[in-house]
Amino acid sequence: SEQSYEHIIVTHPAPRVALVTLNRPKALNALCNALIAELNTAFKALDRDDNVGAIVLTGNEKAFAAGADIKEMKDKTFAEVYKHDFIRSWSEMTQVTKPIIAAVRGYALGGGCELAMMADIIYAADTATFGQPEIKLGIIPGAGGTQRLPRLIGRSRAMELILTGRNFSAQEAYSWGMVARLFPSTRVVEEAVSTAEQIGKVGGLAVKAAKEAINLGEEMGLGEGVKFERRLFHGLFSTADQKEGMAAFAEKRKAQFKHD
Ligand code: HXC
Repeated sequence: SEQSYEHIIVTHPAPRVALVTLNRPKALNALCNALIAELNTAFKALDRDDNVGAIVLTGNEKAFAAGADIKEMKDKTFAEVYKHDFIRSWSEMTQVTKPIIAAVRGYALGGGCELAMMADIIYAADTATFGQPEIKLGIIPGAGGTQRLPRLIGRSRAMELILTGRNFSAQEAYSWGMVARLFPSTRVVEEAVSTAEQIGKVGGLAVKAAKEAINLGEEMGLGEGVKFERRLFHGLFSTADQKEGMAAFAEKRKAQFKHD
């Protein structure tokens, strides 16, 4: 999965961990089309890479991402955005089957906040700032914000934030359950990498099944979701990792998962 990109950087800071860094610092990582295309290419390659167990997505200290690129969007017409289904490619990230941890520092606004919400886990710097300011630009969130924010923090809070466009703090996002953990800004990426490394050590097929069960469950009723979970659960008894994990427990030793 080594390749060089213009707007992102892909590194491997720990065993089975890929770190994807948004790298358009002069524009506060505004998410231009070329950046999203690179992100999709990188995510697809990492999802296929057997040496990667989990992915961390981050920006820099000042901005995770300050949103879609307003300068690139401002003169677009309805015909143009409708014809080319502008923003559709953003949701490719939700097809990635490996866990993605967003490590948010600085601004995560508009499409930046939506990108973080497409990740599976959000870690944030205690100084991070979130927001869906689209309403102030005469638009609404267009990359899932009106759907994911209310599911993550509740309808009334999401309504208030999206209708006013006011920013919200990392502490608010944490207290509402949108952010899993808060850290000092200098530590958030290393903590996300450390969690990704831990996830990379357990059986990869079980990790994939767990993410699939949680994500598909959100689109099902409880009964269907529980049945879907049970099918995946049963299926894992056909894996070498299940045999190894349970044998290791019985033999009082550490499991050596092969992700098979
Ligand atoms: C294009 C952007 C940008 C953006 C910042 N920049 N955000 N360019 N699109 N979303 C550029 C600025 O124009 C500027 O370029 C440089 O980055 C530095 O930004 P400043 O504004 O000078 O920095 P600062 O004063 O510190 O203010 C930071 C900020 C502000 C509060 C985050 O930049 C800001 O309000 N940005 C826009 C936030 C926003 O509205 N996001 C939602 C976008 S709509 P120059 O060339 O002047 O140095 C959206 C829709 C999503 O995301 C729909 C579907 C995806």
